Amino acid sequence: MKRIFSGIQPTTDGFHLGNYLGAVRNWVELQDEYDCVFCVVDLHALTIRPDPATLRSNVHKLTIALLAAGIDPERSLLFVQSEVHEHAELAWILGCVTQLGDLNRMTQFKDKSEQNQGNVNAGLYTYPVLQTADIALYRATHVPVGEDQVQHLELAREIIRRFHFVYGETFPEPQVILSKAPRVLGLDGKTKMSKSKDNYIGIGEDPDTIMKKLRSAVTDPQRLRRSDPGDPKVCNIWNLHQFFTSEEKREEIYEGCVSAGIGCVDCKKILWEGITKVTEPIRERAARLEADPAYVNAVLAEGAAKARAIARETMGDVREATGLTKGEG
Ligand code: AMP
Ligand code: TRP
Repeated sequence: MKRIFSGIQPTTDGFHLGNYLGAVRNWVELQDEYDCVFCVVDLHALTIRPDPATLRSNVHKLTIALLAAGIDPERSLLFVQSEVHEHAELAWILGCVTQLGDLNRMTQFKDKSEQNQGNVNAGLYTYPVLQTADIALYRATHVPVGEDQVQHLELAREIIRRFHFVYGETFPEPQVILSKAPRVLGLDGKTKMSKSKDNYIGIGEDPDTIMKKLRSAVTDPQRLRRSDPGDPKVCNIWNLHQFFTSEEKREEIYEGCVSAGIGCVDCKKILWEGITKVTEPIRERAARLEADPAYVNAVLAEGAAKARAIARETMGDVREATGLTKGEG
């Protein structure tokens, strides 16, 4: 059986275009083909010490955003990580076979330590071990992610291999499904679109806000005047067009840009139309779900109950393999 696991952190009140193109959009499609488990990873989010009330509200809003984007609870499991205690339990056990040398190589740890200099905690360091536990608990065979998570997935495979070496074959070695949009750049046109930088477009933002953000988005820095020809290859707005604009229209824009026939303002306006065509239906569905918190809570409760049943079974095998007591007391 092919099973997907993937997670997203509740670090804002939804997700941004980078998450959507790099992850969530693919999750929605993969539901047709795989048995899918999707998780709002609130334990991971604790590593950056969010305000408690904000964290709780972000979990609720992110769940709504995922449902609105097309995650279908009739077909897929959707739940909150901390509601299934086995994640933390398996993370400890896997931590005991994880080598410091491997954790030391993680570039995300280095980046995040720099960003959070006042709070370089052990959770940031062992973050990929918890991520491995997430995947292994559900015996996932495939993990769809953006490029920033590939190194963590390689480590997950290594941790699982080490576990197998010590205790015997227990889990599948999960394969990465790399997104077709593995690294979406932010509005600065330079760095990865990310919640920790103010360079993103949120999936729940209204058309005016999106327009305002696009207006200040960096294009080809060499193109100073409308009459200068532009170079689409170095322009992130052009790059974003590939996800939102028809091929025919894109050809027109390309020609227009290199011949100075179209200005950046108009080019951005076309992109805005494409983006809002995707975001507006999601925003409308989200508004309806916001009015029905009981439904959202029921989805999460049912998701957690089903996830617990799988997790408990896996932990039975892990306890057996490692020599821990059965844990049924
Ligand atoms: P996070 O918000 O860090 O929990 O990421 C959730 C998912 O979105 C992961 O699969 C990431 O690889 C993906 N992702 C986040 N930012 C980007 C980006 N700028 N481009 C492509 N994928 C991304
Ligand atoms: N670490 C991932 C991120 O920041 C989120 C995540 C947690 C995840 N557990 C996972 C992704 C398991 C894939 C599989 O994007």
